[in-house]
Amino acid sequence: MTAAATYRVAALPGDGVGPEVVAQARRVLDAAGAAFGYEIDWSEHLVGGSAIDAYGVPFRDEDLAACREVDAILLGAVGGPKWDDPNASVRPEQSLFKLRGGLGLYANLRPVTVHPALAPASPLRPELLEGVDLLILRELTGGLYFGARQEAVETDGERSASDMLPYSAGEIARIVRLAFELARTRRSRVTSVDKANVLATSRLWRRVATEIAADFPDVALNHQLVDSCAMLLVKRPAEFDVLVTENLFGDILSDEASVLAGSLGLLPSASLGERRTEHGRFGLYEPIHGSAPHLAGQDRANPIGTILSAAMLARWSFGRADVAGVIEGAVHAALDAGWRTPDLARESDMTDGLVVVGTTAFATAVIERLGVASEVPA
Ligand code: NAD
Ligand code: IPM
Ligand code: MN
Repeated sequence: MTAAATYRVAALPGDGVGPEVVAQARRVLDAAGAAFGYEIDWSEHLVGGSAIDAYGVPFRDEDLAACREVDAILLGAVGGPKWDDPNASVRPEQSLFKLRGGLGLYANLRPVTVHPALAPASPLRPELLEGVDLLILRELTGGLYFGARQEAVETDGERSASDMLPYSAGEIARIVRLAFELARTRRSRVTSVDKANVLATSRLWRRVATEIAADFPDVALNHQLVDSCAMLLVKRPAEFDVLVTENLFGDILSDEASVLAGSLGLLPSASLGERRTEHGRFGLYEPIHGSAPHLAGQDRANPIGTILSAAMLARWSFGRADVAGVIEGAVHAALDAGWRTPDLARESDMTDGLVVVGTTAFATAVIERLGVASEVPA
């Protein structure tokens, strides 16, 4: 008999609801391992506010070094009111940039689908949500987040600050190329989002996107200005396939898109770079939501975004599309069976057969369906 595969994963629970949702996603990944014959060698590191409290820094160099040695990273969320002082020089969110920049994770995939049973959880009319299946591809290591920054200084009695938005053609080309490659596995449409009527970096972005498109004659490209894109995302969301855009636009548009799905707690993400491991592509996986401090410690957070992030982890970093499909199928089956976390349970939409449960019980409902779902094609 061949030895069971062992994958190495670093868990970075973080702050607020982070530890709660990561714990549940770990249970799901481990349970899937029991069914599929793999094991996970977990390590755990403090990140964000919890690391500031313990070490005085949001993420230690030795923890970053340890993250280079694993196959994948599963992150919860960082931040919270305790560390929110805008004047502080040490902030939890800095850990995210250290991870993203330090590990070269320039491609952030944020898929958005609408589970039919959850259409009532969205404030949009159900007919607008039919067929919504889009992928926001957010550039993650450039732009305003990584450009030169001048904190506020006072000159001649006036305070001023500035943030630079740099992009090189190479940074644009690698993310746009990935958008085209991913579009080929989907509906073959790429929307490149920019602000080319104002920004020089956007004009470069648009030129590079057009150049890359020449290599993909089978994929349709259109350019969309970010302001009208924000409008179209709620007006005609089903028309989008792959949206590719710079760092800040992608951050904003993805939270907007979560409204289509029904809750911010539902959306997963994968952050990928070029590096491969023996099993797949090295990556960092996290829900797109934050630490939701007012929900922390109450077993009320929706774990779906993190569980679906774990599915993406299995797909990309373990090379196990089968495992990913089964986890995704089990989440859908739990929703179909009527299980809801509080964020998905508006009182006016509660019908017979829907049961509101906490973070842990929802994950249990998913785990119970891993076997059942494996018989359903992914
Ligand atoms: P947030 O995403 O934490 O919360 C926004 C809203 O969505 C809240 O109403 C919250 O209750 C709800 N929500 C979020 N996750 C949910 C879940 N799993 N289940 C149910 N409801 C959920 O954003 P915020 O309040 O703007 O930020 C809180 C903190 O999180 C800040 O410190 C921010 O910097 C940080 N943050 C971190 C990340 C990250 O670690 N990647 C992402 C976004 C925000
Ligand atoms: C995200 C978050 C982060 C970002 C914050 C917390 C720095 O909003 O992951 O979407 O802006 O990238
Ligand atoms: Mn965000």
